[in-house]
Amino acid sequence: TKSDPTIFIIFGGTGDLTSRKIAPALYNLFLDGWLPNQFSIIGTGRTQLSDEQFRENLFKDISQFSRSGKVAKEKWDVFSKSIFYQVSDIKDFETYKEFGKRVEKHNTEWKTKANVIYYLAVSPNFFPIIASNISKAKLADDPKKVRIVIEKPFGHDLETAKELNKLLSSIFDECQIYRIDHYLGKETVQNIMAFRFANSIMEPLWNRNYIEHVQISVTEQLGVEERGDYYDGAGAMRDMIQNHLLQLLCHVAMEPPVSFSADEVRDRKVDVLKAMRKFGPEDVRLSAVRGQYGSGWMKGKEVPGYRDEPKVDPDSNTETFAAIKFFIDNWRWQGVPFYLRTGKRMHQSSSVITIQFKDVPHLIFPTEASESWQQNRLIISIQPEMSIRLQVQAKRPGLDMVLNAVDMVFDYKGTYASQAPEAYETLILDTMLGDQTLFMRGDQVEAAWELVMPILSTWQNKKSLNFPNYSADSWGPESAEALIARDGFNWFTLPVQGNKK
Ligand code: BG6
Repeated sequence: TKSDPTIFIIFGGTGDLTSRKIAPALYNLFLDGWLPNQFSIIGTGRTQLSDEQFRENLFKDISQFSRSGKVAKEKWDVFSKSIFYQVSDIKDFETYKEFGKRVEKHNTEWKTKANVIYYLAVSPNFFPIIASNISKAKLADDPKKVRIVIEKPFGHDLETAKELNKLLSSIFDECQIYRIDHYLGKETVQNIMAFRFANSIMEPLWNRNYIEHVQISVTEQLGVEERGDYYDGAGAMRDMIQNHLLQLLCHVAMEPPVSFSADEVRDRKVDVLKAMRKFGPEDVRLSAVRGQYGSGWMKGKEVPGYRDEPKVDPDSNTETFAAIKFFIDNWRWQGVPFYLRTGKRMHQSSSVITIQFKDVPHLIFPTEASESWQQNRLIISIQPEMSIRLQVQAKRPGLDMVLNAVDMVFDYKGTYASQAPEAYETLILDTMLGDQTLFMRGDQVEAAWELVMPILSTWQNKKSLNFPNYSADSWGPESAEALIARDGFNWFTLPVQGNKK
């Protein structure tokens, strides 16, 4: 399906997100024939640019960042005709009147009433002013035609998240608001639901009777890079756990939705968040670990510690690593620990969900056979490897009875010839089609904040930290190993070949 005629207005048109993600995604959607014939992109920002200069900028960005590689001239000539630029001051109401005029102009030319998408690729400080100006200029009056896209952070804490939701819902209906958590657009993440609910063999095992524990690990080799000003006020808990990791957890833990419709799916995810056990201060001490990276070496290059990164407070207590043990208090998951961990400057860049099943009730093989005994595991690798592996025990070929753990593998690369789309392609297309399944609803965001707030406030009140407490190119602080080892488990890591970062 193609969407209706669409005008795609990007606030922050000259920014990093537009260059790296939005423009390449739009171009790939165009190449794959997903864009409607009547389509235009209007980039907007403070920089003075002509349409032609803006097109040249996007050409460079797309050539550099698009998964489709070199941009073919004949394709570009067609695509670039739909790109325009408007200088704007987002605080100035006149700017919005201009948008109104442009929309009208397109509508007259196209002899239709096009959908208008306002993509706020700007810092969240600007969300309120942009949203209220859009409303004042009467650009949001038709809920069926107008949509707004925003990126995290959705608030700094529960209170500010509620304020933001209140503001947005005073102007837009929930069905017009597209809150992006880009993890939900990843092909491998979308496949978790397909794997669970389009197969009959998984669901009977998918509960506390068979599953011993779950691990969700999202580690990055990158440091904080140039984002110190944002990150130092956020930290790993706000930047990754509150959104991406908890969403992954929801995919693993949710009940089967009745249908694959946006609200049905999101209702089931909110159920999970609501059922998760809230932390008291003592739980924080026992079940939540934070860390901050020190200096070290990565891939033969010396790298600074977090406190020496640009735009970071030299005495910062912001965590660049977090590991938390959660429980979900419902029938399906009672007593099954979910271990989440994420960190920057770690040994590997990889995002992996590991579901460890309980041991066999009784072992019939002689003890010497079971030297390399490994309980069954289902390993959902989100990136860089895109795969689902089921680890089972098998007999090693030979005359003696020796058992080995082997992997039954579904590997995207080996199975499908076509390249997986980028998360942003999926999400932008869904925005155009009006499908909110992969977007965060207001109550989902608030439920996730409710869960992490007690941890954040306990951490905030206890500042005397021994930071940095892990070095670059490590697996995080030792206390994170202890967190899981106390329960008799280890963090699982999938060997990574050719790390992307
Ligand atoms: C972003 C965080 O949401 O996700 C970044 O703000 C993080 O700090 C990034 O690096 C990770 O995304 P991905 O897709 O590279 O795993």
